[in-house]
Amino acid sequence: AKYTIVDKETCIACGACGASAPDVYDYDDEGISFVILDNNQGIEPIPEDLLFDVEDAIDGCPTDSIKLGDTPFKGVPVES
Ligand code: F3S
Repeated sequence: AKYTIVDKETCIACGACGASAPDVYDYDDEGISFVILDNNQGIEPIPEDLLFDVEDAIDGCPTDSIKLGDTPFKGVPVES
């Protein structure tokens, strides 16, 4: 399984990820992205059919704020 989380410290609210993967990323009141699946904890496996969208979002993020990992992030946006 794959997991994803947004580093909200480096996200600049550019808004690309929600366009690429609307079922995975949404924005808070300030436009900062978070993962819908698990309230940005990075603990819920990404559904297979959404993986392509996630890859797309990662490629499109100008600040590399979207992390992808093989193990749960447990709320900490550092790739292991
Ligand atoms: Fe932020 Fe990157 Fe999305 S800057 S809004 S995480 S594309």
